[in-house]
Amino acid sequence: MDSPAIPEHTVRVIPFRSPMKLFLDTANVAHVAEIASWGVLDGVTTNPSLVAKEGKDFKQTVLEMCKLVPCVSAQVTAADAPGMMEQGEEYAGWHKHVVVKVPMTTEGLKALTHFKSKGIKTNTTLVFSVTQAILAAKAGATIISPFVGRIDDTGENGMALIADIMRAWEHYGFDCEVLVASTRNTEHITEAARLGAHICTIPYAVFKELPQHPLTDTGLKKFQDDWEKVKK
Ligand code: E4P
Repeated sequence: MDSPAIPEHTVRVIPFRSPMKLFLDTANVAHVAEIASWGVLDGVTTNPSLVAKEGKDFKQTVLEMCKLVPCVSAQVTAADAPGMMEQGEEYAGWHKHVVVKVPMTTEGLKALTHFKSKGIKTNTTLVFSVTQAILAAKAGATIISPFVGRIDDTGENGMALIADIMRAWEHYGFDCEVLVASTRNTEHITEAARLGAHICTIPYAVFKELPQHPLTDTGLKKFQDDWEKVKK
């Protein structure tokens, strides 16, 4: 009997490495503190929209997060390379845990090259294609962030882009981590792990779902009920 068809990207052999890092996608410090207390949080990604939603001082927010996790993405808002360089150097001076987030534009590529020469870590945001991913990696990005949810929103398959990027990365061994961004549900995280993506950034509500399973709840209740019957 024929085996069921498996999408080709799921059968690639991906070399063993350290587990996928989990970041929280937020500018809410209390949420970072809560998830960090679980002992599983590797970093935080912020963006101007998330910062505006919280309405708090940006520098203060970043500094408080840097006390909680070892990697905090802080996005530049300048559109030109010199402006990005100036902002990014300032952010990087705030704390050693800061990663400068740079948009995927040609000005952003110039800024990435500059930051690489200065030893400043970067995260390239708003990546929507393999060609953008390759350019950012070649320009020296530490991390690239393809946005899967926003691709799904257009009716395309966001995780297919991650599969394509991971396949390209296998060929070339770029020293650049692939961060699955704009995640919207737990299946995005599961698929990212299947594909061997290096990092996922996850909204607070989705992160809270990750430890949950109804069979854990019913199993625990049964253990507790049975224990009540026998305990002295
Ligand atoms: C990533 O760094 C971005 O902050 C984020 O994942 C964007 O997600 P959204 O598409 O839900 O705004």
